[in-house]
Amino acid sequence: MKLSLSFVALVACANATFSPLVDVDTRSLNDIYTAAKKENGTLQVFWGGDAGAAGDEVRTSFAKRFPDDKINLTVELSKYHDNQIDRGWYEGKHVADVAWLQTTHNYPRWKQEGKLVNYKPPTFNDILNGEKDFDGAWMAASLFGFGQMVYDSSKINASEVPTSYASITDPKFKGKLILTYPNDDDAIAYLFSLIIGRYGHEWLYALAKNDVQWVRGTYTPAALLTQGHNTTSKRSLSFTAYNLGVPFLLSKDIEAPEQKISWVQDIAIIKGTKMLESAKLLVAWLTSVERQSEPNYFGFASVLDSVNRKNGLTPYQQNNTQVTGFRSWELNRANVEFWKTTYEEVLGTPQGLGPLQMFPNAA
Ligand SMILES: *[C@@H]1O[C@H](CO)[C@@H](O)[C@H](O)[C@H]1NC(C)=O
Ligand SMILES: *[C@@H]1O[C@H](CO)[C@@H](O)[C@H](O)[C@H]1NC(C)=O
Ligand SMILES: *[C@@H]1O[C@H](CO)[C@@H](O)[C@H](O)[C@H]1NC(C)=O
Ligand SMILES: *[C@@H]1O[C@H](CO)[C@@H](O)[C@H](O)[C@H]1NC(C)=O
Ligand SMILES: *[C@@H]1O[C@H](CO)[C@@H](O)[C@H](O)[C@H]1NC(C)=O
Repeated sequence: MKLSLSFVALVACANATFSPLVDVDTRSLNDIYTAAKKENGTLQVFWGGDAGAAGDEVRTSFAKRFPDDKINLTVELSKYHDNQIDRGWYEGKHVADVAWLQTTHNYPRWKQEGKLVNYKPPTFNDILNGEKDFDGAWMAASLFGFGQMVYDSSKINASEVPTSYASITDPKFKGKLILTYPNDDDAIAYLFSLIIGRYGHEWLYALAKNDVQWVRGTYTPAALLTQGHNTTSKRSLSFTAYNLGVPFLLSKDIEAPEQKISWVQDIAIIKGTKMLESAKLLVAWLTSVERQSEPNYFGFASVLDSVNRKNGLTPYQQNNTQVTGFRSWELNRANVEFWKTTYEEVLGTPQGLGPLQMFPNAA
């Protein structure tokens, strides 16, 4: 009895840490789709983000390409998705089939805890070499960045838009900035740590005195700039924003010696899924050359070497951003905690509705 118990324990332990070799899936997307169509149900997908509508493009493109396979893509802050996945596990609930998140530090842990399915999509060998688990437990599916200046060109002339974060604390920008609380989002927390690393905590103290409108989420600054466009609002500038592509919002890149942030969102299949082929289809499609070649990621590089070569992009050779920087920063949670506490003490706790309450998912 004693012997068999310890055998069970050993097997459980081995399951969590031993990764048998998985072959790259050599099927075409259409062949994976054929297998996926035999599964009944809806694939539950957690995508990290702060505007529900951002999911519409993925939902629509997937539905158009694979009309007989249903996905339910929920956009929510990655940190909340993470927590739901872990809590679901403790409660014996399977809350998501696929996790596609910013919070890259969880994936190695989830792998070790035996929570992920090893899967290598057809393009596995083409995915950026530092951005995938060699057993296929997780891999990059998208690449993003923050730090460029986004401004309303009707309210501020291009020549006045700074190319250095140092200038942002100048009193001439008092009342003009809309920025994301760095203590609410790890990507922005990392960006602020890079800036403070260069200019010291004095930079943060000065910024706190420059009448910044602090908001939750990274979609919110550009959304508020857009709302304020035809009004008397003096708010005209952000560096924690996406340029939403509206004609009056323009971008200007920062210049040396500044460092901005770029990072990948990892994707993984959660163990226990009843829709394994559908989950593989989503991963294979998101990382496919066909999908990665679409110019819809705001001009950022692809997670595929071949696509970057074709477009003349070299994400690992840029000297003003380091793709791997965020991944290693995220892993040191004590350091992350130090920074978030610093921001909280100087700027206060994040106020206002969460971004997904302001910009919810489509019904
Ligand atoms: C899916 O549903 C159909 C029709 O109800 C059924 O025949 C089939 O066995 C189901 N397939 C699976 C994998 O559950
Ligand atoms: C979609 O996902 C959300 C969040 O997990 C869940 O509350 C909802 O019931 C799901 N809807 C469907 C149709 O699966
Ligand atoms: C931009 O510069 C022009 C010429 O100097 C000036 O007339 C205009 O008021 C400026 N616009 C803004 C929004 O500052
Ligand atoms: C601003 O006003 C112009 C016309 O005066 C209108 O065409 C445009 O849609 C408005 N933009 C926003 C963002 O409200
Ligand atoms: C990056 O390289 C360019 C071109 O060599 C150089 O002008 C710039 O100063 C460099 N930036 C940094 C941050 O070192």
